[in-house]
Amino acid sequence: MASRPTPAAPPRGVPQKPGLMLPMRVWDVPVRLFHWALVALLLTSWISIEFANNLRIHMLAGEAILALLLFRLVWGFVGSETSRFSHFLGNPFHAVTHLMHMTKKEPDTQVGHNAAGGWMVLVMLLVLLSQVSLGLIIADEESFIEAPLNHLVGADWGAWAKKQHRLLFTGIQIMIALHLLAIASYAVLKRHDLVRPMVTGKKRLPAATPQPRMVSLYVALAILAVAALAVWVLVTRV
Ligand code: HEM
Ligand code: HEM
Repeated sequence: MASRPTPAAPPRGVPQKPGLMLPMRVWDVPVRLFHWALVALLLTSWISIEFANNLRIHMLAGEAILALLLFRLVWGFVGSETSRFSHFLGNPFHAVTHLMHMTKKEPDTQVGHNAAGGWMVLVMLLVLLSQVSLGLIIADEESFIEAPLNHLVGADWGAWAKKQHRLLFTGIQIMIALHLLAIASYAVLKRHDLVRPMVTGKKRLPAATPQPRMVSLYVALAILAVAALAVWVLVTRV
């Protein structure tokens, strides 16, 4: 006897039973890989210079970070909906009102970065880009250190860049601490788990939420390949 057909899962974006929550993909693979690769490379860059005193690994990790950042900046214009700057950089006043509701317990209905987090993401990307740019022009005549692009600016700017590179690293440590504090605050104050979606890509959201548009992984791979090539040309051919 034929079994009764099971009803198909209700389509997203159409009116559903109020309160019904369904898992939805909010982060694409490229953004998640970008994030965790960035964390791993920053750790490598820090450990290699501070504990292993290995400048070669330090610079390689830094150059890989530059390729990742270039990829992420382009992905911010052509990537999946939640990765786009136009999606998460809105009116800065909304960021302030968002922060004012920080202690209010409410269900997590956010698709992508929230109004405050979006601006923080932009700041993090620009600060890291500045750190890498400074690193590329460092020179230290006493210890015969010359980063790949120092010949474009000379020894004086190289010495200046070395100081700023060290100073900005303290800024980066503070920035990372704030980033982790913000994530912990969402967990404690609002009971929002932001980490799991950054790992799995999925979040449980009200069924009526429209699915964000995702762009193919092949497009991301092509952009990453061009970014890596551009960095290679920059550090070996310029
Ligand atoms: C080296 C340290 C870290 C740096 C530089 C960093 C940087 C970033 C950046 C740039 C983004 C934006 C992602 C994008 O849109 O492309 C982001 C988002 C995020 N990061 Fe990190 N991250 C770090 C460590 C961590 C760690 C250890 C965790 C987990 C405990 C974490 C959890 C998250 C989460 C959950 C988001 C998404 C936040 C949201 O929902 O808006 N991050 N991070
Ligand atoms: C976001 C990525 C980077 C981070 C977090 C970072 C961090 C650091 C830190 C903490 C130091 C030690 C500063 C000190 O105590 O004097 C350092 C030194 C240095 N970094 Fe970076 N750096 C990054 C990227 C780069 C890049 C891309 C290059 C060049 C390709 C570079 C080249 C150097 C050089 C030449 C030194 C000086 C070493 C010395 O004087 O002994 N860094 N960096």
